[in-house]
Amino acid sequence: MAQPQPFTILCVDDSEDNRQSSAVLLELAGYRTLEAGTGAEALRLVAGADLVLLDVRLPDVSGLEVCRRIKADPATALVPVILLSGVFTRSDDRADGLEGGGDAYLTKPAKPRELLGQVKALLRVRQAERRASESLALLDTLFENAPVGLGFIDRWFRYVRANTALAAAAGIPAAEMAGQTVSAVVPDLWPHVEPIYRRILSGDLSSSSQDVFGETRARPGQVRHWLASHYPVALGGEVLGVGTIVHDVTDRKQTEDALRLRDRAIQAVDAGVIITDALQPNNPIVYASPAFERVTGFVGEEAIGRNCRFLQGPGTDPLAVAALRDAVREGRSCDVEVLNYRKDGTTFWNQVLISPVRDDAGRLTHFVGVQTDVTARKTADESLARLAAIVQGSRDAILSTTLSGVITSWNDGAAKMLGYAAAEVVGQHQLLLAPPDKADDMESALRRVGRGESVPPFPTVWLGRNGRPVDVMVSVSPIRDRDGRVAGASKVVQDITGVRHLEDQLRQAQKMEAVGQLAGGVAHDFNNLLTVITGYTELILEDLPPDSPTRDLLVEIHKAGVRSAGLTRQLLAFSRKQVLTPKLLDLNEVVRETEKMLRRVIGEDVRLGVDLQPHPGWVLADQGQLEQVILNLAVNARDAMPRGGGLTITTRTAPADHGGAGPRSGPAVVLSVADTGVGMTDAVKARIFEPFFTTKAVGHGTGLGLAVVHGVVAQSGGRVEVDSAPGRGTVFRIFLPLAEQPGGQSAGRSGVRGMARGTGTILVVEDEAAVRALTRHILQAAGYSVLEAADGEGAVRVAAGHPGTIDVLVTDVVMPGAGGREVADRLRGLRPGLKVLYLSGYTSDAVIRHGIETHKVNFLQKPFSPAALAAKVRDVLDGNR
Ligand SMILES: Cc1cc2nc3c(=O)[nH]c(=O)nc-3n(C[C@H](O)[C@H](O)[C@H](O)COP(=O)(O)O)c2cc1C
Repeated sequence: MAQPQPFTILCVDDSEDNRQSSAVLLELAGYRTLEAGTGAEALRLVAGADLVLLDVRLPDVSGLEVCRRIKADPATALVPVILLSGVFTRSDDRADGLEGGGDAYLTKPAKPRELLGQVKALLRVRQAERRASESLALLDTLFENAPVGLGFIDRWFRYVRANTALAAAAGIPAAEMAGQTVSAVVPDLWPHVEPIYRRILSGDLSSSSQDVFGETRARPGQVRHWLASHYPVALGGEVLGVGTIVHDVTDRKQTEDALRLRDRAIQAVDAGVIITDALQPNNPIVYASPAFERVTGFVGEEAIGRNCRFLQGPGTDPLAVAALRDAVREGRSCDVEVLNYRKDGTTFWNQVLISPVRDDAGRLTHFVGVQTDVTARKTADESLARLAAIVQGSRDAILSTTLSGVITSWNDGAAKMLGYAAAEVVGQHQLLLAPPDKADDMESALRRVGRGESVPPFPTVWLGRNGRPVDVMVSVSPIRDRDGRVAGASKVVQDITGVRHLEDQLRQAQKMEAVGQLAGGVAHDFNNLLTVITGYTELILEDLPPDSPTRDLLVEIHKAGVRSAGLTRQLLAFSRKQVLTPKLLDLNEVVRETEKMLRRVIGEDVRLGVDLQPHPGWVLADQGQLEQVILNLAVNARDAMPRGGGLTITTRTAPADHGGAGPRSGPAVVLSVADTGVGMTDAVKARIFEPFFTTKAVGHGTGLGLAVVHGVVAQSGGRVEVDSAPGRGTVFRIFLPLAEQPGGQSAGRSGVRGMARGTGTILVVEDEAAVRALTRHILQAAGYSVLEAADGEGAVRVAAGHPGTIDVLVTDVVMPGAGGREVADRLRGLRPGLKVLYLSGYTSDAVIRHGIETHKVNFLQKPFSPAALAAKVRDVLDGNR
């Protein structure tokens, strides 16, 4: 603590002796002294003195005048003055001296004790005053320099005092504030503070420290914010006015506002926002925004203190977790999509964005994470990817164009179908793909799409790479943008070359069917006539003496009849109207049996090669017809090789997926007949199976050979393929369904016996009178008694009227009224066990429709020879079917 300064006493006397004796006395008592011999000198030195010993009689100015001047100067007014006068001082002088400001009056020579006593007493007061003024100055300084605004307002709401800070807050100089009313200085605040002032002034001290926020605008746009506290200033219980303390909280408010804004902003974000503490072990969550709960279902308190991995579960991809772990470990940001689990156990795709947060020193202190539920987008992405994969993988060409026709996308199907890679066509105009005569198809479809229409599938032709035309079916649809405006076109393009081919085949098949119907119909009527012609010829020949001159003529008639029957058989075969007798056959065996005959047919110029598969090729077919097929093909091959060549017959088994348009799928036995002949043009190839179509010279071919092949094969459930080109020979491939291997097939009886004979009674039912008569003749010639009827009714009548046995019923299948089957059934009702032989020149279909399955009953195909009929009847009699 600093030593208190000794007081300084100014001794003023014109007598140096007096001055010095006083000075010595005072210095001995511990004071410092100053000396002045004149009034002027005294006034100059008084500022440094704490007390003045003033002789009233001075050479220049009177001591009383000096005293007055000291007291008049505020700077020295409080310095006590002891007046000293001579011995004979009048009491008036003493009174004048004290009135002039002297604080004491001593007579010279003053006794030392008295002088020191007086000095001491006055300095005590002086010291108290000095202290008071010091503390006032201190308070003044405190008041003035306070960093907050301080003011005192009197009962009339006027500023009595205001410090610099308050004046600065009010925006005016402090000196100008004093005496001004609050409402004049801060009109913005006045409405807020007036009620408070009034309450305080009314003596309601409870409202003393009320804080009020306010703002002022010192300059336009420069807003300052204040926090003011007001309190009563009271003296002796009387409220003198209001004290005001005003803080400038502009910076604090701005900081708070900024923080509040950030908080609100975080809360407004749809995504969850969390902050984790990177300095704590396990990096726990220290803040979770409200949206975190919306996204995860966990409220803030449930998340705070935990590591975010609690959102993961069994379906979470470890690779995604590893990506998060690496980013956190390395203190860097990352963006990871991870499967997370909500509180209720449901899953969602969480896009986690993590960023490190560093302090001023650059040290990692926190992480901030943003969680967005991207399930919808992810699902949409996946279904989009699925759609893209479907489009990309489609066999159809799927492409898009702009409305002006520029290609914008191109799938794999398009690349395969048209031969261009996507990179070659994207950006090109679509007309690249249109032949000139089809360009308009393409452009007009695009125009329709531009008007918002969808163009349903239409057939057209597109050009593949190298100008290869492709038959296609195209549909075009608008592609719309988000606003529903047509922005482009999508095209789905189907290659219909195969369909076209099938259509051609179908047309061809329909044509063949129609021709077949016609041919079959004619052949059927012919059959009956030929049966009659050849039948009677044979009967007459049997009875004719060997040397009869008409025999040769009759033989010629018979030959012509037989040839005609062969022709009709071929017609029937072609039209698939003949009745086949399918048996299990080994195709290898059939070829072997035909081989010898073939060698004869093809002549010496043609080499015959036979290449049979090592195992049997079982098929269900009619042996005779199959031989006919091979023969017809061989004959054609021979004719195609006028200067010789090679003919190769091959058998193979083809697996189930051998393709083609055969009526049946499944494994097939393939018979190939290949020649090295002249080959065929496409035009010829397209017509070869038509009946009566021939490339041979007039008289050299019936035009039925391949028609028969087609008919027989088709009727046996197979199909024929042809491979041929001019100069490259021809291969016919016959696919026949592979039949089950037989358990123990009895070899079919073949060959025709001579006229078999017998006895007994036979009932012939036939609507064609001529055929009926022939049948009767043959049977009578063979030794039988014959009963006849023209239809079902007649047959029942005849049977009912015949007293004896009837051994065999020989009946036509298709007749007006009751058919053969019905006749047989009705007669069996009369005569149980009756044997029946069915005859028909009709199609197998028709026969089957009449309830007869030819392989289950006794059946004879018309036209028949007398020998065949006699043999068949014999069979029936012997065979007990
Ligand atoms: C700020 C921040 C936010 C995170 N948010 C998730 C989140 O939403 N879902 C999640 O599966 N993992 C989140 N993680 C990651 C996990 O907290 C943890 O780092 C991750 O599972 C790898 O660490 P671990 O192998 O120790 O589990 C976040 C990490 C941080 C730092």
